[in-house]
Amino acid sequence: MHYLAIKGKQKLSGSVAISGAKNAALPLLALTLLSKRKLNITNIPEVADVKTLLQLLTNLGAVSTCKDNTVDIDAISVNSACANYDIVRKMRASILVLGPLLARFGHCEVSLPGGCAIGQRPIDLHLKALEKRGAVIEIKQGYVLAKAPKGLQGTTIIFDKVTVTGSENIIMAAALAHGTTTLVNVAKEPEVVQVCEVLASGGVSIEGIGSSKLIIKGSGGKLLDIQDFSVIPDRIEAGTYLCAGAITKSKITLKNVNPKHLEAVILKLEQMGFKIDETKDTLTIHPAEKILPSDIETSEYPGFPTDLQAQFMALCTQAKGTSIIDERLFENRFMHVSELSRMGSNIKLKGHSATVEGKAKLNAADVMATDLRASSALILAALVADGTTKIHRIYHLDRGYENLEGKFSKLGAHIERLEE
Ligand code: UD1
Repeated sequence: MHYLAIKGKQKLSGSVAISGAKNAALPLLALTLLSKRKLNITNIPEVADVKTLLQLLTNLGAVSTCKDNTVDIDAISVNSACANYDIVRKMRASILVLGPLLARFGHCEVSLPGGCAIGQRPIDLHLKALEKRGAVIEIKQGYVLAKAPKGLQGTTIIFDKVTVTGSENIIMAAALAHGTTTLVNVAKEPEVVQVCEVLASGGVSIEGIGSSKLIIKGSGGKLLDIQDFSVIPDRIEAGTYLCAGAITKSKITLKNVNPKHLEAVILKLEQMGFKIDETKDTLTIHPAEKILPSDIETSEYPGFPTDLQAQFMALCTQAKGTSIIDERLFENRFMHVSELSRMGSNIKLKGHSATVEGKAKLNAADVMATDLRASSALILAALVADGTTKIHRIYHLDRGYENLEGKFSKLGAHIERLEE
């Protein structure tokens, strides 16, 4: 196993190119199951989760090649509708094949994703919405067995809660359904919007793209004439590098970003004392004279993303004063707190709220990555700690950050990947 060794207290400078969004690439690869043509997809991030989904599609019968952030994929040859446990257990987002497989084949078997470190993360909303469209669903021996012999029917679905992958699953299924599906309380994340846009490129009529109400006219089971596309930039990777510039009080520039997707994040950084310049596709963060504390509440897009909560908590340890961070989406997304405490931060937890007292003097330590975004908070803390921090179990980081050491080294960080 590998670990990262990071020597703290180095200033960063220069620029970093942001990769394609992992959370967009995953549903978009699942969407290829609905395409009647071979697709060329660019700006694909080369991260472990993307490789897992490509493997899952290969197991189903798809043929793909992946090189230089470009995937050529032919999913017309898919002849199996069974996503087994061995692959689904590696990544919860594998559940994204459920809607497309059921819509295309009229039946499918997809392993239940199981537990997750950041909370319970059920898929009841995905299943309820498919049942409402005429699917018969059974859970047997850890598998979702779904059937819709007459195809999925158009209807109105109101999501009880906003769910990102749930919305994507049901939107993809609606694209091939019989009749019109109206979806209410749909997630508005940019990744969901891109799924709609790519489906629309294939001839699906979708009204309300980007809003919480969508009206989708299904193709009646016919595969779609999807056009080639490029994955949107990763707003969470971008937010992480903005925090890296912020915490090290460095001026750095992010290239290949969409500043519109980061409005809530930019606003928070400005409130904390940072100046940010933006162009159509770059962001430059300038050092703050004094980092101000902040109150943060995570919520659905366009609110502050839960996937940047841990990174901002690391940043708040360096603000002078008290910051309060409320995690509203996942009940157990504070595992980075104990590791940050081992480095000298002063954070108190009560329910879904964390109180961060700053400014803390951080010291290097051996720390454990616990989930993808929690791990990036440890990198940020290590960048300003005294001494060399060792971050273990970095396979979590490899799930979602492309070329992490390469990008940080180019910015001037002293970071090395070493063998345990
Ligand atoms: C996606 C993102 C993840 C991000 C999260 C919230 C991907 C691959 N992952 O995860 O990075 O942190 O959105 O922005 O895009 N819920 C239910 N029942 C369901 C589905 C969800 O109760 O059937 C609850 C969840 O437990 C959670 C909330 O709804 O409390 C939001 O979860 P959801 O938006 O579904 O997260 P994911 O799509 O799994």
